[in-house]
Amino acid sequence: MAELAADYVCASLADGSATSLALPTGDTPIGMYKHLVERCRRGEISFSNAELFNLDEYTGMSPNNPRSYHAFMRRHLIDHIDVPAEQVHLLRGNVADPAEQCRDFDRAIAAAGGIDLAILGLGANGHIAFNEPGVSWELDTHVVTLDEKTRHAHRPNFPDEASVPSTGVTMGVNTLRSARKVLLLCAGESKREALAALLAGREDRAWPVTSLLGHTDLSILAEAALMPAS
Ligand code: GLP
Repeated sequence: MAELAADYVCASLADGSATSLALPTGDTPIGMYKHLVERCRRGEISFSNAELFNLDEYTGMSPNNPRSYHAFMRRHLIDHIDVPAEQVHLLRGNVADPAEQCRDFDRAIAAAGGIDLAILGLGANGHIAFNEPGVSWELDTHVVTLDEKTRHAHRPNFPDEASVPSTGVTMGVNTLRSARKVLLLCAGESKREALAALLAGREDRAWPVTSLLGHTDLSILAEAALMPAS
């Protein structure tokens, strides 16, 4: 799955259909990033023209904190590829004015011509980036309160339940739906119900991933074990 995801991203970079990318964190995309880094090292692909954006971040967290999504993106991709620093746009958790950061981020996305390819993971509760169940689908980048299910899923990365952040900042559903292409990655047993909600084919505010239904260029890469028997 990681290799197929990397193939998709490389083909999109190579044929010029994707310059600006929205990038996910989480366990699911780590294998894809390994392949991308390896291919970039071998000179098979280049990120020199790419504009890279991350999808989300915990609020209140310094980019230096290894648990931050900022640090994740550097560790798994940015620090190992040939993208110029000024073309990397990572949300920060510790800014003085979070609303201003959201506006600046949206301006940077607009300046890049919008997102060409949004690569998304899937939350067990159906979230995409940090767009939790019930969220407005009309928003661009905004600050969010994290769902209890999300906080629980993130608990293994923190010393205790109380240390798991309760808020985040995320690209909104409107930004994600406006991407020219969307690649959704689904792995792990906990995603079964969310994927089933998507495959049911009905928009449902309780499952934010269903906001992608109707997108004209949506690709889904899912573990075979998660696919319903046909
Ligand atoms: C977090 C992120 C999402 C990501 C999800 C899935 O909640 N905010 O962007 O898609 O985790 O993570 P994993 O791939 O570890 O299951």
